[in-house]
Amino acid sequence: MNRTEKSVRVPDLQAKKTRGEKLTVLTAYDATMARLLDSAGLDILLVGDSLGMVVLGYDTTLNVTMDDMVRHTQAVRRGASRALVVADLPFLSYQISEEEAMRNAGRLIQEGHAGAVKLEGGASVTHIVHRLVSAGIPVMGHLGLTPQSFHQLGGFRRQATEPDQQELLLADAQALQEAGVFAVVLECIPDALARRVTEALAVPTIGIGSGPYCDGQVLVIHDVLGLSGAATPPFVKRYANLSETVVEAASAFAEDVKVGKFPPPRK
Ligand code: KIV
Repeated sequence: MNRTEKSVRVPDLQAKKTRGEKLTVLTAYDATMARLLDSAGLDILLVGDSLGMVVLGYDTTLNVTMDDMVRHTQAVRRGASRALVVADLPFLSYQISEEEAMRNAGRLIQEGHAGAVKLEGGASVTHIVHRLVSAGIPVMGHLGLTPQSFHQLGGFRRQATEPDQQELLLADAQALQEAGVFAVVLECIPDALARRVTEALAVPTIGIGSGPYCDGQVLVIHDVLGLSGAATPPFVKRYANLSETVVEAASAFAEDVKVGKFPPPRK
């Protein structure tokens, strides 16, 4: 898929923050959904490692591999002509060494055709961010509820609720900015802290479950479309109920086949 004149580029996001325009981000994992979301005018399509949970059926994101990410990033990139495609570096693809981080981020750009990568963590990953950015790879940070630390955090729960944790998160955000990230996702932190971080950073913040004061918002597409059932997080706004639509359509098809209504006889 060719990039068009009006494609969203990394510097456009900073310009939007400066103009006070909100950034819109949804996850995508395949070409069909990428094409639909792209035509809706989203700024960023995030090939999140939430892929592991909403598409591959795992309980956490920890089982997602580089090959999974490359394959799904390629698909999203084929469907998107306008939005910036950002791909997650999965668990253990960047923590082991700077060399592995470079190689794996390079795969997402070269093989997956992503426009940028995202990784989780604060001060502990700034050396990796710096290395990737020095090589010309745009990096998005991710703080707060970082699902790759599921076991350490004790589950998917709100983060930085205590004053000392809040100071640490602010310092992490500043460290990521200094290392060169072009944006930071803030997941499941208190609204007031998200506001503080947003005001303190020059680069845009993108919130999920962190209130209205971030520079942009991201949600998982399956949650937005009502495909996640009981697993939908409480902060999500569901804009459609596709679960019902899919079950109704599949049941109608099955019924038609059983009673001989589909397919109709041909002459
Ligand atoms: O993996 C993902 O989908 C994410 C978003 C929830 C920010 O990281």
